[in-house]
Amino acid sequence: MPDNLTVIVLAAGGGTRMRSKTMKVLHPVAGRSMIGHVLHAVAATRPRRVVAVVGHQREQVTPHVQQWAPDAVLAVQEEQHGTGHAVRVAVEAAVAAEGPLDGTVLVAYGDTPLLEGESLRAFAAEHEAAQCAVSILSGVVAEPHGYGRVVRDEVGDVLAIVEEKDATHDQRDIHEINSGILAFDAEFLADALPRLTNDNAGGEYYLTDTVHLAREAGLAVGAYPIDDVKQTEGANDRVQLAEMGREMNARILTRWMKAGVTVMDPATTWVEADVVLEPDVTLLPGVQLLGATLVREDAVVGPDCTLKDCEVGSGARVVRTHAELAVVGDGASVGPFSYLRPGTRLGAAGKVGAFVETKNAEIGDGAKVPHLSYVGDAEIGEGTNIGAGTIVANYDGVAKHRTRVGRHARTGSNNTFVAPVSIGDGASTGGGTVVRDDVPPGALAVSAGPQRTIEGWAVRRRAGTPQALAAAEADGADQDSATGSHDGTGEQPAAVRVAGSTAADDGPHYD
Ligand code: UD1
Ligand code: CA
Repeated sequence: MPDNLTVIVLAAGGGTRMRSKTMKVLHPVAGRSMIGHVLHAVAATRPRRVVAVVGHQREQVTPHVQQWAPDAVLAVQEEQHGTGHAVRVAVEAAVAAEGPLDGTVLVAYGDTPLLEGESLRAFAAEHEAAQCAVSILSGVVAEPHGYGRVVRDEVGDVLAIVEEKDATHDQRDIHEINSGILAFDAEFLADALPRLTNDNAGGEYYLTDTVHLAREAGLAVGAYPIDDVKQTEGANDRVQLAEMGREMNARILTRWMKAGVTVMDPATTWVEADVVLEPDVTLLPGVQLLGATLVREDAVVGPDCTLKDCEVGSGARVVRTHAELAVVGDGASVGPFSYLRPGTRLGAAGKVGAFVETKNAEIGDGAKVPHLSYVGDAEIGEGTNIGAGTIVANYDGVAKHRTRVGRHARTGSNNTFVAPVSIGDGASTGGGTVVRDDVPPGALAVSAGPQRTIEGWAVRRRAGTPQALAAAEADGADQDSATGSHDGTGEQPAAVRVAGSTAADDGPHYD
């Protein structure tokens, strides 16, 4: 295992084919920037030093480099005069920061998201074992167009890398290409870089010319074709970015399936790089697991869910749900059509049902919010059942307030809890209650006014309508009065009955 490794990551080029205000290497693949993936792979080689070459839009790129490789030396390449020039800038910055380089220097690009640390490490080990001045991580590809070709002599020894632009007709037929990843003996590299020229079709300083310089000096050069060529492919435009994303996703899903996760439909399942899944998780079609989501064993997610930075407990069931920064307890049930916003914590065996939105809400073990509700800035105790159509009115137009519902409470349908308010343990509320005042433990709160029933209203006030007809038919009333015209006299209803009272004369005009 190489133990004195310096890795230089080139990321100064513009990437104009992305047609984006975002720098190419910052475009995400599976939830991580391309350069984030590369630096992640680089870190796995346990390098002694990392140097990142930045140029174009470096104010965007630098923070990403610092996030993924906090100890990296940042080398600024103001103008891009080629890969040879970029590496010279990198070496100068590294020397200035930490003294002369020794050991092995690997050069990689910032736009190859599928690259794996293991491949880099194996390549560096081969390079060191063969004691080469330069080694090429090559690839044999069906379509070599655009790549530098690896030119070998009759016995197969590497002579040079010839860039597409400078290649002869015959050289263009070579299918062994330079992936771009090269390994150097540090002393040879330091010696070769100042000798590169830009006397070529591209007018650039080609790092690849070091191969030819090594051969001229009688030094050993190696080329090791990588089986998995995709690992070294870059994404240069949005089409390739999508292809990379699909390939990365397929690889992530394969890894999880091999680790014991059931993925019913890999084609419609998207799992980002930092997601963690336990064995016996089942993902049904149409699931996106994003960010730092964790799904514990035996949980079933899907169909059709998007979960970002969520934790799903073991054995939980999440169906057609959109959730972010939410925790779903063991054995809990969410969905269909639920929206869990940040700060939602659903306890073990709890339930958030259809058309329920939650935010900053602690919903206790076994507590249920089954239907058509909004629960924001609230605590709901264990075993409590919230009636259908409950709205927690957390916002008074100026500030947000908290609502507390105790344990094993039973609140009625179509309630409004006007925060700040609390409902005690074991309390109940009636249907349609607007809870403005605290409800003590064990109490029943009702606030809906007594019901007023005005007999015969439809027939008088909605005469001629299907409503009136239906009412008349139900009443066995005479057809004529139901089909008569609306009289518009504003006469008082014949009978006004108020549930639970005899008052009949204080209501508004029921039109
Ligand atoms: C390069 C190689 C070619 C190889 C191919 C693989 C050279 C001369 N050619 O060609 O043999 O087959 O990659 O993809 O090395 N960069 C800088 N500063 C520069 C120039 C480039 O940072 O001044 C960075 C770019 O951002 C990019 C990488 O280096 O990430 C490669 O540069 P690019 O211009 O794409 O090289 P190619 O022409 O593709
Ligand atoms: Ca390229």
